Amino acid sequence: MEQQFIMRGGHPLRGEVVIGGAKNAALGLIAAAILTDDTVVIENLPDVRDVNVMLDVLRELGAAVERTGSHTVSICAAGIRELSINDEFIRRIRASYYFIGALLGKYHSAVVPLPGGCAIGSRPIDQHLKGFRALGTDIRIQNGCVVAEAKDGLKGTHIYLDVVSVGATINIMLAAVLSERKTTIENVAKEPHIVDVANFLNSMGANIRGAGTDTIRIRGVKRLHGTSYAVIPDQIEAGTFMCAAAASRGDILIKNVIPKHLESISAKLVEMGNTVVEYDESIRVIGSAVQRPTDVKTLPYPGFPTDMQPQISVTLGLARGISVVTESIFESRFKYVDELARMGGAIKVEGNVSIIDGIRSYTGASVNALDLRAGAALVIAGLCAEGITTVREIGYIQRGYEHFERKLQALGAEIQLVEDEREAQKFRMRVG
Ligand code: EPZ
Repeated sequence: MEQQFIMRGGHPLRGEVVIGGAKNAALGLIAAAILTDDTVVIENLPDVRDVNVMLDVLRELGAAVERTGSHTVSICAAGIRELSINDEFIRRIRASYYFIGALLGKYHSAVVPLPGGCAIGSRPIDQHLKGFRALGTDIRIQNGCVVAEAKDGLKGTHIYLDVVSVGATINIMLAAVLSERKTTIENVAKEPHIVDVANFLNSMGANIRGAGTDTIRIRGVKRLHGTSYAVIPDQIEAGTFMCAAAASRGDILIKNVIPKHLESISAKLVEMGNTVVEYDESIRVIGSAVQRPTDVKTLPYPGFPTDMQPQISVTLGLARGISVVTESIFESRFKYVDELARMGGAIKVEGNVSIIDGIRSYTGASVNALDLRAGAALVIAGLCAEGITTVREIGYIQRGYEHFERKLQALGAEIQLVEDEREAQKFRMRVG
């Protein structure tokens, strides 16, 4: 049996939790380390599977990668000799595409497997490739890989993205920082992790302006130097615990956050009747006994994040009334609804809209995590449910949440990571 989370719900989550570094920023920073032959030190790096796979790929390529602390890694890419990545290794994570931009930017050549789609949608990378071609790269798809070559080097240009894309924004930045002349990228994503990657590159000597706005301007430089940099706190991990506080009617102080990054989530939880108190680097959420229904539409930052859609939906599933959630970023990010229905969730999905009819309480069941955020949302549901819940396929959750069950246990959750049915049975006997 794969590892599972088993839990007994009913305990309001109370106490303090410390948020780790942002996974979706860390993945871009790790690839960006390729762009210099100097040593780069990255701190506050979350110890999660996606990050560790990216570090392993760097090692595969010939970089020196050393964990110098539980959340600090030093990378020296001077030893990279290999510019193609083998398929088996990297298909496990989506952010492998960042290696295209980084290898192109530094070596003007890259062979990287096309990233797979996943439970939330087809997730094409046409905008990434559009940017690389505009910079002067020949791109062809061969044997499932992106084969990219910029024989005459990369030349600055003007790129207008057809779709607001986090990945394409970061990837084109990686390819353009060492190019000749100036590159302007319009209609870019503005997520905090975009700004973090731009700040990281600028700390290495890049010349990037406008990250966090609709337009990024890059003046190519000859080389980048080493740096020491700390990843920003993870907006989505923080938001997940904010929803856990609301759904469980608990009271959690969430530490090591940037409250500004959480404004859309705070606003929604306040609309639902919860109390949210902002401090300099932490935020407190006090769950209301009665959750009010409301409507949510996921949008690029600073709108409500798509990565918080399952978690807010589970919380709205306990509200007193009807809520409408519109998923405008991905075409199939409601697959968890069938799993939640096994716990009594009353959600109808029509295309990219879900209609949630709030219930008094979920009831425990065995459910599957179908993707990272859906898995976290089902754990929140299990912690609020009557009875015992097991969440399977927790590898998805471990891709983006470090010590998820330990952080929840410290908040009073009766949850355990179990290796097999015998351990699950022991948990059931113990909690009765
Ligand atoms: C990043 O994915 C995140 N992943 C996702 O988080 C997040 O949901 C997403 O951004 C949106 O915020 C990482 O950062 C590793 P996009 P990404 O390009 O970059 C379409 C998580 O839970 N599109 O912003 O792949 C695409 O299909 C994960 O941590 C194109 O059409 O997302 C989608 O509909 C899940 N062509 C929309 O744009 C392209 O070339 C936004 O995608 C690229 C994207």
